[in-house]
Amino acid sequence: MPNHSITADSPRIVVSNTAEFLRAVGRELEDGIVSPRIFNDPELYSRELSRIFARCWCFVAHESEIPTPGDYVLRYIGEDQFIVVRDEDGQIRVLYNKCTHRGSPVCRVEKGNSSHFRCPYHSWMFKNNGEWSGAPYRKKAYKKLDAAQWGLVAAPHVDSVHGLIFACLDPDAPTLDEYLGGMRWYLDVLLGLNDQGMSTIGEPQRWRVPANWKSGAENFMADAYHVPSLHRSAEEVGMFPGIEGGGAGPQGVNRHVFFDEGHGMIVNDGFLPAPWHRSGFPPEVADTFQLDRLTEDQRQWVASHSASTFLIFPNFGLVRVPASPHPDAPPTVFTYLRQWQPSGPDMIVNWNWTLGWNSASDEFNEQAYVAALSMHGPAGILEQDDTVVWGGAPVAGSSVFARKSGMRFNFQLGLDDMSDYAEDPDWKFPGRATTSALGEAPQRAFYRRWLREVSTPDHAEPDHTDQEENA
Ligand code: FES
Ligand SMILES: [Fe+2]
Repeated sequence: MPNHSITADSPRIVVSNTAEFLRAVGRELEDGIVSPRIFNDPELYSRELSRIFARCWCFVAHESEIPTPGDYVLRYIGEDQFIVVRDEDGQIRVLYNKCTHRGSPVCRVEKGNSSHFRCPYHSWMFKNNGEWSGAPYRKKAYKKLDAAQWGLVAAPHVDSVHGLIFACLDPDAPTLDEYLGGMRWYLDVLLGLNDQGMSTIGEPQRWRVPANWKSGAENFMADAYHVPSLHRSAEEVGMFPGIEGGGAGPQGVNRHVFFDEGHGMIVNDGFLPAPWHRSGFPPEVADTFQLDRLTEDQRQWVASHSASTFLIFPNFGLVRVPASPHPDAPPTVFTYLRQWQPSGPDMIVNWNWTLGWNSASDEFNEQAYVAALSMHGPAGILEQDDTVVWGGAPVAGSSVFARKSGMRFNFQLGLDDMSDYAEDPDWKFPGRATTSALGEAPQRAFYRRWLREVSTPDHAEPDHTDQEENA
């Protein structure tokens, strides 16, 4: 059993050198303890933007939001704003929304359809594939302009899977499939169940939450432990079934599945009794699933498992759980996408998209939409619970007393036989599975990935950062 006591010579007071601090974070993480500083530190946040959000594959939109040429939406990677647009040839582009003349945003509305974007400042024009296409007085003003050099700057990589569009700002990145690894298998069994696929219902909701983005990510990745305490009221009013009996708590029929790359999920081995089947969907929906699209292993998984909450590193989540749209209604299984966009180290902009099955009735999808918003919309009963409690970490992260006292956060659940929680040697599907969800192995994997990324210099960063890294 490791010694978890606070010692005088451990780097618990103030380590001014960021590289030294990160080495200490790595040592402490092995013991399941984490400094509050990582939840509110301008230097670490700057590294997160350049080394995580500008290097990882990040979700930007669902294909159903931009179905026809010219359709676009405005989205973010880290704090940078992009136009996600389907060009005239049907190709999806992710274009940095800053004019190459003086930096004014060329697109000023959240969504629309346009063949071109015209900058309001001096009226440079860009096609919806990003190419420079003209300027006022062009023949007199820009006789020698090399138009090929002055298009909108595009994300170097864009790809999609089951309608989810991801972009990556790192030219040297692996492919999206390589990045997802075993999580691609789980996207197949969650979203790829028939040819018709899923579409977003309505607009994504967005709201600001005073918290650090990592708190949302790690919570949805694996934090079943909080459900019976924080969300008990949802069960008490009849909107969230059977927490202790296996609904979403840490015991019962739940387990973790996770990857060393910092992706993971809570897997539920059967949410609802008959007649609900196949991942908790009623027959009218489940009968539209074309299981011959899946491998034999995937079919077995669909017959007996579902994922309740799910994270693709760094900040993209998916949730599929049953809940009642109102206290007198039976549970409906809903699916929504969640993104915790950073807006400073102590602020998240939450993004929330509900998905409906294209093969299901409008009535079912409407019930699922209402259930999703009742639980996890801006005023959702679970959402209010979560977002209130996440606010403490960044406050402690900038607190003088927390730093002087050497305060640490505890991530020891499931470590070294502390709980009934072990890796399941019989799990035959992708990822590392545990025997229950009464542990925090996925969260520790998430923070190890976080640490690897923020500790690895980016070749595009200024020289002084690399020098500090090597100090
Ligand atoms: S800033 Fe866009 S045209 Fe000048
Ligand atoms: Fe929660």
